[in-house]
Amino acid sequence: MTDWPALESQYFMHVVERLPLTIVRGKGARVWDEAGKEYLDFVGGWAVNSLGHCHPAVTQAITEQAQLLIHTSNQFYTVPQLRLAQLLVENSCLDKVFFGNSGAEANEAAIKLARRYGQLKLDGAYEIITTLGSFHGRTLATVAATGQEKMQKPFPPLPTGFVNVKYNSIGAIKSATTKRTCAVMIEPVQGEGGVNLPDDGYLSEVRAWCDQKGILLILDEIQTGIGRTGTLFAYEQYGVEPDIMTLAKGLGSGVAIGAVLAKEKAAVFVTGEHGSTFGGNPLACAAGYATLKFVIDNGIPAKVREVGEYLMQELTKLKEKFPFITDVRGKGLLVAVEFENDIAPSLVMDCLEKGLLVNQLKPNAIRFMPPLVIGKKEVDEALDILDKTLGVESKQ
Ligand SMILES: Cc1ncc(COP(=O)(O)O)c(C=O)c1O
Repeated sequence: MTDWPALESQYFMHVVERLPLTIVRGKGARVWDEAGKEYLDFVGGWAVNSLGHCHPAVTQAITEQAQLLIHTSNQFYTVPQLRLAQLLVENSCLDKVFFGNSGAEANEAAIKLARRYGQLKLDGAYEIITTLGSFHGRTLATVAATGQEKMQKPFPPLPTGFVNVKYNSIGAIKSATTKRTCAVMIEPVQGEGGVNLPDDGYLSEVRAWCDQKGILLILDEIQTGIGRTGTLFAYEQYGVEPDIMTLAKGLGSGVAIGAVLAKEKAAVFVTGEHGSTFGGNPLACAAGYATLKFVIDNGIPAKVREVGEYLMQELTKLKEKFPFITDVRGKGLLVAVEFENDIAPSLVMDCLEKGLLVNQLKPNAIRFMPPLVIGKKEVDEALDILDKTLGVESKQ
């Protein structure tokens, strides 16, 4: 067999610490390596494989679309793009859509939109308040928006116009608001930054503050959207409506797509102010439409709530059994387990050996983002493996 890690080190930029596994095939919540070994996938492509791997609805949609029309320029109308835009608007509180190819691109569009809104409606205000521990992407503007020093430090000078304030503190947002502020941008649940849940009332206080100041609320639902937290969009559970919302990850169930959605009043782009060559092309939008339609028609968010609660309940039992588990937290099928010590790297490796893929969130925490279509049986199977690996850890 080819030595893929050697090929990687010779030809690929080493930007991510990979696990020693080359995945060649996937079906549902399972993937296989070259030798045919099976793994239960609770990483889900970092919350992307919402319907699991190669779901027939998505595979069929992209197969048919690939035989019909893969790409045209956005100078022309294409059917999948407009059908997906309609489906998103009809199932959210937003009115207008623009498609890009990734989360970072969706957030870039949201940032531009908020700045344009500031220029037109807020006397030139351009500053966006974001929170510490957030993650909004890897482009320069989204790195500046991301409230994590380790991601900002290597790339000075960063674009200006972003203020990173304490998460879960309405006081911090109020103090940072000036006449330059055009928007507040928040993940309803911070994903990459730790699966950090908003305190009761936080998001509605932020909404009220934005209303009071006439500034925009941007919700980054790139990780939390498309049913991940147990409702189609996480904002539904917090009694708030964003002015702008961004989506990506789970929207295409594995096919690259990003979207920015805005309320009518915030959809201020005019011709020529934004665009994309690939964004919203027929192939990606066919995948997005198939995914979103399946999620809606099959009541997937309610199933996510049920299975997510079961996962949390069973993890809480493990927490009782293994006192070095210090926290189990999450919403729907976005769940983190935190430990007293930095055991995540060895735990992830042990799980891998035993046929379970989990994500290292921090040195002392792991994250589960399995396909939204898993059942309690897969949860039992995953937790059985986790139980065994924790048993080994507890003896070390
Ligand atoms: C909340 C959030 N925003 C933005 C991004 C960036 O998305 P992408 O990697 O598709 O650019 C991510 C990716 O993890 C994310 O979780």
